[in-house]
Amino acid sequence: MKKLAIFIFCFISLMCNAGESSYSLFSPDKKIEITVGVTANGNPIYYISKQNKSIINQSSLGFQLVGADSMLCRDLRIVDVKYSSFDETWEQPWGESRFVRNHYNEMTILLQENNQLHRKFKVCFRAFDDGVGFRYEFPQQDSLNYFIIQDEKTEFNIANARSAWWIPSHAEGSYYESLYRNTKIAEINSNAATPFTVALEDGRYIAIHEANLTDYASMTLLPASSTVLKCELVPWASGVKVYACTPFVSPWRTIIIGDKLGDLAESRLELNLNEPCKIEDTSWIKPMKYIGIWWGMHIGKYTWYMGPHHGATTENMKMYMDFAAKNGFGGVLAEGWNYGWECPYYDGNWFNFVTPYPDFDLAEICRYGASKGVQLIGHHETYGGVRNYEAQMEEGYKLYQQNGMHALKSGYVKPKFDKTEWHDGQYGVRHYRYALEKAAEYQLTLDVHEPIKETGIRRTYPNLMSQEGARGQEFNAWSADGGNPPSHVTILPFTRLLAGPLDYTPGVFNFKYPRKDQRARPQSTLVNQLALYVVLYSPLQMACDLPENYEGFKAFDFIKDVPVDWEESKVLNAELGDYVTIARKDRNSENWYVGSVTDEHARELSIPLDFLDAKAKYVAQIYADGAKADYRTNPMDNVYYEKNVTAKTVLKIKLAPGGGQAIRIVKK
Ligand code: NOJ
Repeated sequence: MKKLAIFIFCFISLMCNAGESSYSLFSPDKKIEITVGVTANGNPIYYISKQNKSIINQSSLGFQLVGADSMLCRDLRIVDVKYSSFDETWEQPWGESRFVRNHYNEMTILLQENNQLHRKFKVCFRAFDDGVGFRYEFPQQDSLNYFIIQDEKTEFNIANARSAWWIPSHAEGSYYESLYRNTKIAEINSNAATPFTVALEDGRYIAIHEANLTDYASMTLLPASSTVLKCELVPWASGVKVYACTPFVSPWRTIIIGDKLGDLAESRLELNLNEPCKIEDTSWIKPMKYIGIWWGMHIGKYTWYMGPHHGATTENMKMYMDFAAKNGFGGVLAEGWNYGWECPYYDGNWFNFVTPYPDFDLAEICRYGASKGVQLIGHHETYGGVRNYEAQMEEGYKLYQQNGMHALKSGYVKPKFDKTEWHDGQYGVRHYRYALEKAAEYQLTLDVHEPIKETGIRRTYPNLMSQEGARGQEFNAWSADGGNPPSHVTILPFTRLLAGPLDYTPGVFNFKYPRKDQRARPQSTLVNQLALYVVLYSPLQMACDLPENYEGFKAFDFIKDVPVDWEESKVLNAELGDYVTIARKDRNSENWYVGSVTDEHARELSIPLDFLDAKAKYVAQIYADGAKADYRTNPMDNVYYEKNVTAKTVLKIKLAPGGGQAIRIVKK
């Protein structure tokens, strides 16, 4: 790991009286300024500007605890302030960019109550060139030992918001699987999940999220006025929010600040606010493309349970292994291999994670795959039965490890765990972390469906490879509304993907499904599906369609060629909800890949290739929508051609309604 760490510690300790002082912190490039102080009644507050233009106006900080003397947000004074700086470049084991610079200035404010309890806590702010993070730190102290948080008082008073892009969280939006809404802040009518993206009146963008969500409740946002969003923690069933014990730290509250939309997606602030990798040997953690019987189940060709149409049979899995080996896929996913699916109650307590159905010979399938260089990807659907799962977890993980497997997809289809607790409350956060750490012990990577939102934990545990947590491709198989509208995939890179990789499962080539009652299909062209491999980042990318639907298609070459691990990534152009073009450089060659997608409108875009090596020549392999392509009437019309290009070339690309373009740029 390349490490260039400078740690300058400048120590300033100040004594001051409540209401008299405020303290400022600047980002390394001096453009972002954070100011922190206390009001006359001892309420801690902060505000943020960039280049003297306000981003966050005066906003409150603090807590309400359970019990007597509950308010830990007033009658406070600043008793100490410390400053420090940090600059390091670290290497990701896999990612959308190989190197990440972690450069910030830090200011830690110690607050103490004026009353006889003298309870104290710190607020630590970090100013980066691309945004701000802050968190609460509770030192060990006699008057605050075990405590329960009833409410976190953090506010975000957004200056000059034009509109917000958001989805509802837990109670109204299970698993973050909603379509994004674009409204005024005052029009938000339920708890909004984060990442929460705001377009400002002056053309800039901000995204509010959290980093390092560890043993705490997930933050949602509720409007308190037409400009103020208040942090609302997801509760336990009892209504309280967080059980804590000093010393204790909260997750980081993060605000990415972009002069343009693309800056949000290029920021690595979330990762920088997580701890370095805790897994010593990461050689078993490998990005890969995979296939599986998954789409066949969602379109009704196969069943999860054993029967005449069972998908996960030894014979079928071997057929998929053959196809994977022939076409360079690293893994084959097997859902519906274990007892529990036959239970008619859809209840997590029935799932068995150690006993395969009799027509699924786990050891033989793994042996067969290994002989061809393909691994079986395991599957654990819990149906929210977390207690049942945790009781079998070690045995289930051990079974996979003994069979040489390193990848597992997990699932939590039920809005409440063990019938009582939200996924996103402290109970759920604890479970997801437990599963991740246990999986690391058994050298298993996780692809979590119905997850807790990512908050950059993949830096610390890079075996957390991908997650769902969005309306994925599966809605295009069965959703009553016909499937994800074309604009959906133009929004995801600037909302959901700011949290981390997304297992969207692109790659539908056949738009006519076998079942007559099918109500949905992808609202995209075939080339749009190709472009998603570049636009929607994931180190695990599925080619979701049935093998027979890929045979004989030139467009399948793009899926075979496109890498899943990147040296660097750039947003070339974007308009939220309209279109986006992203370029990524392969980590293992000199080749670049470009993906562009549009909403329901046809578009012509100019793409300057000035990111290429100025001294080199390249050939662009272009997969484009055909002249008659249209996601409504003719999704499969596509053309392929090649063109010599250099860094001086400006490509003119045409996208059909719901269309896209996918380009592989090969260095000569
Ligand atoms: C929902 C998941 O998102 C999907 O991928 C999976 O196939 C089903 N649950 C069954 O586990």
